[in-house]
Amino acid sequence: MNTERMDGRVFVITGAASGMGAAMAHDFAQRGAKIAIFDLDDEHGTKVADEIIAAGGTAAYYHVSVTDKAAIQQAADKVEEQFGPIDSWVNSAGVSRMVPFLDSSEELWDLTIDVNLKGVFLCCQVAVAKMLEHGGGVILNMSSLSGKKPSSWQTIYCASKFGVQGLTESIAKEFADQNIRVNAICPGIVPTEMWDRLKYEYAKKRDLDPEEVLPYFKKNIPMHRLVDIQDVINAAVFLLTDNSSYLTGQSIKLTGGEWMD
Ligand SMILES: NC(=O)c1ccc[n+]([C@@H]2O[C@H](COP(=O)([O-])OP(=O)(O)OC[C@H]3O[C@@H](n4cnc5c(N)ncnc54)[C@H](O)[C@@H]3O)[C@@H](O)[C@H]2O)c1
Repeated sequence: MNTERMDGRVFVITGAASGMGAAMAHDFAQRGAKIAIFDLDDEHGTKVADEIIAAGGTAAYYHVSVTDKAAIQQAADKVEEQFGPIDSWVNSAGVSRMVPFLDSSEELWDLTIDVNLKGVFLCCQVAVAKMLEHGGGVILNMSSLSGKKPSSWQTIYCASKFGVQGLTESIAKEFADQNIRVNAICPGIVPTEMWDRLKYEYAKKRDLDPEEVLPYFKKNIPMHRLVDIQDVINAAVFLLTDNSSYLTGQSIKLTGGEWMD
């Protein structure tokens, strides 16, 4: 683990009740950052905040849907009252389903696009406005390998993550000369809570037993392992600190050699 410090920095991390968002919240708090968790899962969001505080860190949980601009704005105002100016924002909230294209419903389209794409749009608007008031900041969007590479049975998810790429690059360009950097991470398979359900859906797609799904992926990845959450944290720390001060509008593809485009 690298020892980069984040003392005094104020983070919003969406989707930090679970998975990669929660892992980043714990890690960045240990580096001295103050963490605001925006999520809908009150039980786990509160648990992550309590664990950070119990370990000597600073955190608070806010019930916020990333689809609701007024709620994001209100919570961001409260974060600034509680912790000070927001200088760092990670968009990790997301939903994912694996369904054949012709069975993909309009409801699934609305949900996926609302959370994964409109959510990033709204959060970036609030984040950028705050950062402009304070002289700058850094934004990290959790995209996906599915933001770079097409995937059958994941049409809507791919559309949302390809969209995140467009948002990331366009916002980065517009604010590059105002000390705001915007980058993305595109991981392959990270065995988080998201895969607790997805493995059943992928098993249907490939006619596998659900327990064979993750080993099946490993076999087909050149490095023969899945993305470790520590790989995500390492890339995130790089993109969120001055180590990457000349990078904006970029995406780090964490794919173990699977995808290099
Ligand atoms: N797990 C993977 O293999 C993988 C790979 C590539 C990219 N991603 C992306 O990385 C991000 C994090 O994935 P994860 O595996 O940690 O997922 P996860 O399911 O473990 O966590 C997602 C979190 O988002 C929250 N959330 C959902 N809808 C929300 C809303 N409207 N408002 C606020 N919060 C909401 C959930 O409550 C949950 O806490 C997602 O954007 C996902 O698409 C995941």
